[in-house]
This record gives sequence, structure tokens and C-alpha cells, in this order.
Amino acid sequence: MRHLINTQDFSIDEIKTIFEKANSYKRGDISEDLEGKLIITIFFENSTRTRSSFEVAAKRLGAEVVNLDVSKSSSSKGETLFDTAANLDAMNPDAIIVRHQDAGVPKILSNYVHCPIVNGGDGAHAHPTQALLDLFTILESFPNPKGKKIAIVGDIKNSRVANSNIELLSRFGLEITLVAPPHFMPRISAHKKTHYLHEVLDDVDIIMSLRTQTERHTNQIYASLKDYASDFCITKDLIGDRDILIMHPGPVNRNIDIDDALLADERSKILQQVQNGVFVRMAVLENLICR
Ligand code: NCD
Repeated sequence: MRHLINTQDFSIDEIKTIFEKANSYKRGDISEDLEGKLIITIFFENSTRTRSSFEVAAKRLGAEVVNLDVSKSSSSKGETLFDTAANLDAMNPDAIIVRHQDAGVPKILSNYVHCPIVNGGDGAHAHPTQALLDLFTILESFPNPKGKKIAIVGDIKNSRVANSNIELLSRFGLEITLVAPPHFMPRISAHKKTHYLHEVLDDVDIIMSLRTQTERHTNQIYASLKDYASDFCITKDLIGDRDILIMHPGPVNRNIDIDDALLADERSKILQQVQNGVFVRMAVLENLICR
């Protein structure tokens, strides 16, 4: 039984196969590959775009999707994770997509069910489909990504998106620089690091901005997000006429992560990421369920 818990679960060749399928879906070559299949989504942590992206992906391929409303579910009545898993499994789904505020939960669930588990984001650990759709979007602009330079900017230490991207993008040969204030910088990392955005601007092909994960902070690190923004907001003025792709997993804090002017600029790939997310998730589901 295959699961997608983190990006290492797929080899480079498997990812290329998934991307070929995603590309064919994007070209409009869509068949009901998941007709008659049942997919359950269970999101213990808030999400709008990831859950709806999975739901749209599954429905485009003809699957039935049941969203478990966790606020009304039995976990709030004291049911253990093990029992939740056993109960979901008893409904005989073809895949379960799970998001949880604690790292490791999708992996634990995968030990108790008879269908693929897809990690829709667990704590600060991993968000594999986000990294896959980010890589897919990068490949559309840079079909040969080896040696391309990307700066990942913001709350890297608390970001599952950063973790998954660092693993995946370095495997595909991208050179990564981490740009963050000391409190948001992971202590151990093999990648280049700086606290100053201006140091990387002349040297990067891509900037991936991240949202400050205030919900994962135990104490407030900046006096205000405005203070953070004065050092780390990616603005159109700062980028000037440089040819740099601007990415962000969403939700964007406007004028904190990226300013309005740059969000409206054609170098911003954020809506392309959202669009590609559906095709990549379609291909991931097809791969895990049908092969
Ligand atoms: C991210 C997440 O939830 O991990 N968003 C997403 O999945 N599109 C990033 C974030 O919340 O900042």
C-alpha cells in the first residue's frame, strides 16, 4: 500500500510520471479515472485552498468525496486517533486525505488503514503535494531546473511548506538560499543562509515567500507583522525589473509577505500555483489509487 506522507515517498522517476499525467490533465485529457472511488478528507486544522483543491481534483476524475467535519466529529468527543482511523477504514474508502496540527499524525494513521493516506499538511513537518505543485510550476518556466537559484523567504523554521520544498527542490538540483530573521531560521541546514533579503536579489531566479506561522509561535517574535514586513516583505520596488518568479503557497498576507503591486505583476505565479495544484493532486490521487 502506497502513501504520500512526505516528498521522499516518491522517487524522481515516479514524480516525472506524475507530472506527465498532470500535464495531460492540464491539456484537457481528462477521463473518469476515479469513477466509483470514495475519497474521505479529514482536516483537523483549518484549510480552504488545500481541501478544496483536493476535492476539486477528486471530483474532476469522477470520485465521490466525503468531507468529515472535524468540529462535529468524535475527536472532539474524546475518541482516540486510533479509533477515528479504524472507523474511517471501516467505511472502505479508496484514499484518505488528512491534515493535522501535529507532525506525524498522517504517518500514524497509515498504520491502521487499508487505503492510501495523503498528507495534506502535518504540523511543521511536511506538505508534500504543495511542494510537488511548486516544483511543477517551476518546471513550466525552467524545464531544466538544475543550478537554478531559489530564495525561500520568511518563517522557514515553522513551515511544512519550506521543509517539503527544501527536500524536493534540492533533489531536482535547485540551489536553495534560506532568507529569514534569526528566530525563523532553522538551526541546522546544509543550505546557504542569510538574514538580509537584499543580499540575494541579484542572484536568484525564484523567490518563494512564506506566511508567518503565528499559530505555531509560543511567544510573539516581532513587535508587529509590520516590523517583520519592513525587512522581509517582497515588494515591486525591491525587485525592480529583475526577471524573478515570485511564488507563495497561500494564504498571502498582503503587504506583509508580498506587496499589492507585485501580487498584480505577471512575474507573480501564485494563481498558476493554485491552478496547477488541482492537476498535480489529480495525478497524485490517480497514481496512488489506480496503480
Ligand atoms: C500552507 C499550509 O497550510 O501549510 N498553505 C497551503 O497549504 N496552501 C501554508 C500556510 O498556511 O502558510
